[in-house]
Amino acid sequence: MKIEVTGSSPLEVEASVLAVPVFEGDAADPKGLFAELDRRLDGHLAAAAAEEDFQGKAGQTLSFRSLGKLRAGRILLLGLGKREGAESALPRAGFEPLRMAAGDAARLTQRGGGTRLAFAAPRLPGQTAHEARAIVEGALLGAYQFDRYRTEERKKKRPQVESVVVAVPQGLERSREVKEAVALARSVSQAVAWARDRVNEPPLHLTPSRLADAARELAKESGLQAEVLGPREIAGLRMGMFLGVTRGSAEEPRLVRISYVPRGASARKAPVVIVGKAITFDSGGLSLKPTDGMVDMKTDMAGAAAAIAAMKVIAELAPPFPVHALVGACENMPGGRAYKPSDILIARNGKTVEITNTDAEGRLVLGDVLAWGVETLKPAVLVDLATLTGACLVALGMTTVGAFGPDGPAMDAVLAAARTAGEDTWRLPLIDSVKEELKSDVADLKNAGTRMGGSISAAWFLKEFVGDAPWVHLDIAGPSSTTKEKGYVAKGGTGVGVRTLVELVRARMQEEARPTRL
Ligand code: BES
Ligand code: MN
Ligand code: ZN
Repeated sequence: MKIEVTGSSPLEVEASVLAVPVFEGDAADPKGLFAELDRRLDGHLAAAAAEEDFQGKAGQTLSFRSLGKLRAGRILLLGLGKREGAESALPRAGFEPLRMAAGDAARLTQRGGGTRLAFAAPRLPGQTAHEARAIVEGALLGAYQFDRYRTEERKKKRPQVESVVVAVPQGLERSREVKEAVALARSVSQAVAWARDRVNEPPLHLTPSRLADAARELAKESGLQAEVLGPREIAGLRMGMFLGVTRGSAEEPRLVRISYVPRGASARKAPVVIVGKAITFDSGGLSLKPTDGMVDMKTDMAGAAAAIAAMKVIAELAPPFPVHALVGACENMPGGRAYKPSDILIARNGKTVEITNTDAEGRLVLGDVLAWGVETLKPAVLVDLATLTGACLVALGMTTVGAFGPDGPAMDAVLAAARTAGEDTWRLPLIDSVKEELKSDVADLKNAGTRMGGSISAAWFLKEFVGDAPWVHLDIAGPSSTTKEKGYVAKGGTGVGVRTLVELVRARMQEEARPTRL
C-alpha cells in the first residue's frame, strides 16, 4: 500500500474518502477542520451529525457524501472520545483511539469500494509524528485481510485500499520525525500482519516445521541469525517437558532461535530475550478439549508469531544490545504415544513434574525453553508471550493482556512499553497461596491445579524455570485472536504483542543513548 504525507489542507486532498477524527462535543459546536468542512457543505455536515446523533464518542462513525463540494467523494467522521486533556490523554493511551479510528476508516473505505483514503491528523501541538504513526498503523492494519484460502473469484469481490494520504499541518510533511514515524509504522504493521497471517493459517499448513521454516525465512530476509533444532537435538538438551508434550503428535517438534547481535563490543551486552508459546494446535492431548474449546486452538502459537514478527522490526531498529527470540514449537495431540496424566517428566533444569492435565501443555514447553534461555543467554530482560490460560480471559476479558512477574525494572519497562504501544495490558499478582495448587505428592510440582486462580498458578509454574532472571510473563490468551472486527482489529489473529515488544526495545535504546549522569 502507498503512504503519502501531505501538508495541503484536507479539503483539497483527492481521495475516495476523507476521514476526519472528531472529539466528543466538537460536532455540536463545530471547531477547526470540522467547522471548515461544514461551511464548505453549507451546514449540511453539522446537520447530518445532529440528525444521526453523531457526537464524536470513541468508535462512532458517520459517512456523508461530499456532494461535489470537496475533492474527496465522501467524508467519514470518526469519534475519538473526549477532548478534555486530549493533549495528554491521547498520548497516554498510546494514541489508541486514533489508531482504532484509522482502522475503521480503512475498513469502511474498503467496504465501500474506495481505493484511496485521506486522513486528517487531529493536530495536537507537538504530536504530529505520533499521530502520523497511529494513523498509518491503524489504516494498514484495518485494511488487513487474510485471503490466502479464497478462490480467485471471491477475492475480486473484496476491494483493497491502495493508498493512504495523511494530512498534517503545512510544513510538517517534510519533517524528519514524521518521515521516521511513518517508516516505523509501516514496518510495525508489516510485522503485525506477518504474525496475523501465521495465526490465521490452518494447522494443517502451519505445522511446527513450517513455522520454523517461516521463522528462518524471516531471519534471512532481515539479516538475523537463525538456528532450528529437531527432535534429536531437543532430546540432547534434555528438555523432558517439551518432549513429553510433543509425543502424541505425528509432527516433529522444532526449537527455534532467532538472534539479532550488534557489531563490536555491544554484542557482549546482556540481551533482551523473548520466548513465545508455539503450540501449532492444542487438542488438549489425552485431556481432550471439547469441540467448542478446540476450534480456535490453531491460534495457540500466537505468542511465538508475535515474538518472531517483532524480530523483523528489531533488526531494522538495530539496537546496541542483542535480542533473541526463542520458540519451542510442537502440537499437543492424543496420539498413541501421547504423554499421559500421571506421567512424571524431568525438565531441562532437573525439576520433576507430575502431569495431572495434558491440556496444561504450554507451560511445559515454555518451562524448558525459558530455562534454556536463562542458562545460555543470561538475559537483562526476559519476556514470554503465551496463549496460556482460559482463566486469563475469565479474569480480564478478550482484549487485555495479563502481565505477571516480580516487581522490578523489567516489569516497569514492559508495562510502560505496552502503554506506549496502545496494547491494553493489566498486571495480575503472583499470590502465594495459589502456588500451593501446584504441590505434588510424587514430584517437585504438578503441571496443573484447580480452575481457581488458573492464570496465577500457570505463572507460578513458569517461575520455577526462570531462576532469578528479570522476567515478565504475558498471558495473551484473550487478545490474541478475535471474532469481532473493531477498529484496526480484523477477525482472526490480532498480532498482539508485536507492538509492545518493539516499544520495549525502543525504550531501552533511548535509555542506552542517554548520557550517564555522574
Ligand atoms: N491454549 C490453552 C489456553 C487457551 C484457552 C488459550 C482459550 C486461548 C483460549 C491452554 O493450553 C490450556 O488448555 N489451558 C488450560 C489449563 C488447565 C488445563 C489448567 C485452560 O486454560 O483450561
Ligand atoms: Mn492446552
Ligand atoms: Zn495451549
